[in-house]
Amino acid sequence: MAETVSEKAAIEPSKLYSVESVTKVHHWTDELFSFRTTRDAKFDFVSGQFVMVGLMVDGKPILRAYSIASGLAESELEFFSVKVPNGPLTSRLQNIQAGDSILVGRKPTGTLVLDALRPGRRLYMLGTGTGLAPWLALIRDPAVYSAFDKVVVIHSVRQTADLAYREILAGDPAYILSQATGKLLYYPTVTREDYRNTGRITELLTSGKLFSDLKVETLDPERDRVMICGSPSFNADIKALLGERGFAEGALSAPGDFVIEKAFVEG
Ligand code: A2P
Repeated sequence: MAETVSEKAAIEPSKLYSVESVTKVHHWTDELFSFRTTRDAKFDFVSGQFVMVGLMVDGKPILRAYSIASGLAESELEFFSVKVPNGPLTSRLQNIQAGDSILVGRKPTGTLVLDALRPGRRLYMLGTGTGLAPWLALIRDPAVYSAFDKVVVIHSVRQTADLAYREILAGDPAYILSQATGKLLYYPTVTREDYRNTGRITELLTSGKLFSDLKVETLDPERDRVMICGSPSFNADIKALLGERGFAEGALSAPGDFVIEKAFVEG
């Protein structure tokens, strides 16, 4: 006779993931949400890394890569996600509530980390959509402000409502580190409706509008470093644009002038 167990009791941690609890869920729009989870005491990461996150579905784990959006010192983890109506994971994940169980991988990884960049003076973080997430962790890492004089977060979305976190990025003192004062710049841009900044990041870089708005010189591989996290076409276009300007791609094994990662979750 089959034993009856509750779904929760059936979830066992494994070598690959721990079972955490959802502590908070915030819905930004019909298509974007963020959530926080408990953090395993042994879970360690480097700002900018991603980790596998998921749910048990019919007794099997479904996991997707998520950039960690919380700071190193926080006791919880935070993630920022799209909601894909038929996505195997996000169609379910969008319904999570505080107290639900969630799987969090044990091995964060990724290239959007300070150690994959050569020393420089300005750090540009270019993200589209949920590609903002790694910057949220990095801008709360004091090491970023020790390494760079200026840290510029550029976030491109279709509609103003998609500018998640915009109020805190604009200077919430509870969120922004004291070390960031005078160093951190936030440049949101909207591409499909009117806003104070409009246009794709690629256009803003090539026209030079970004630099005149920020009152800084145009990109220079001697001084500037770039982190990129967006859709495959965005990543390819920015990579080409930086290549034309003499920027070399970096990796942990060979630090360079820019690093790149796909803003992963599509399902
Ligand atoms: P656009 O509205 O002009 O397509 P998406 O929601 O499709 O992932 O897009 C998020 C943001 O990224 C939007 O502002 C979008 O601009 C922009 N974007 C998408 N692809 C590119 C690209 N290849 N180069 C520059 N910006 C891009």
